[in-house]
Amino acid sequence: MKIIIAENMEEFNEIAADIVSRQIRNKPDSVLGLATGSTPLGLYALLADKYKKGELDFSRVKTFNLDEYRGLPKDHPQSYYHYMYENLFSKINIKDENVNLLNGEGLDPYKVCADYEEKIKAAGGIDLQVLGIGHNGHIGFNEPGTPFDSVTDLIDLSERTIEANSRFFESPDQVPRQALSMGIKTIMQARSIMLLISGSGKARIAAKALKGPITQNVPASVLQLHPFVTVILDKEAAEYL
Ligand code: PGA
Repeated sequence: MKIIIAENMEEFNEIAADIVSRQIRNKPDSVLGLATGSTPLGLYALLADKYKKGELDFSRVKTFNLDEYRGLPKDHPQSYYHYMYENLFSKINIKDENVNLLNGEGLDPYKVCADYEEKIKAAGGIDLQVLGIGHNGHIGFNEPGTPFDSVTDLIDLSERTIEANSRFFESPDQVPRQALSMGIKTIMQARSIMLLISGSGKARIAAKALKGPITQNVPASVLQLHPFVTVILDKEAAEYL
């Protein structure tokens, strides 16, 4: 596990964008796993900027997003579909047919999840998975207690996650109670992983995940077992490392 501590968020975003850019330049048909949340917003802005300057070409890139709320229409401002188009896909030359998001509106979420696993395999697997971490250590929506061999599935969100994400909704009762998420095994099958952790609020969970025991109670601790993980932290998140 390679741990990089950035001086500030500007440097944090630049390091993250460099890793993604290198991946795409080395392999123009890269398969990227993408995350939502506030942490990767700076990364996505820089990637869009690099595309605009002619430094990056997404025409052959494929993406698979980690997760999606269940029951929110695609055009809902808090759907991850909306987030991805708003913050990245509408600003780069990625082809719609190369974008993959779990369909949270499907009548049969289990089939949606099984099909997603197959689609990732058919694409040749994920080359680089971008990850954030929840305050409870979740990766994707894999909450504490999720078995390490889990695959893409319908998930019940924890109270902690519902509360954390309620900042984006008018009230906590509007936050969906379920989501579709890649499993921990799905994430671990990526050839390389970039974990982004910023802010003092994540400092304790960062130390637990990166230096603590490997346990299902801290889902991100499983990443200690992956051979190619780069973790980027800002100084605040790295306080207890
Ligand atoms: P955040 O979310 O980037 O908004 O903190 C991370 C996560 O919950 O995985």
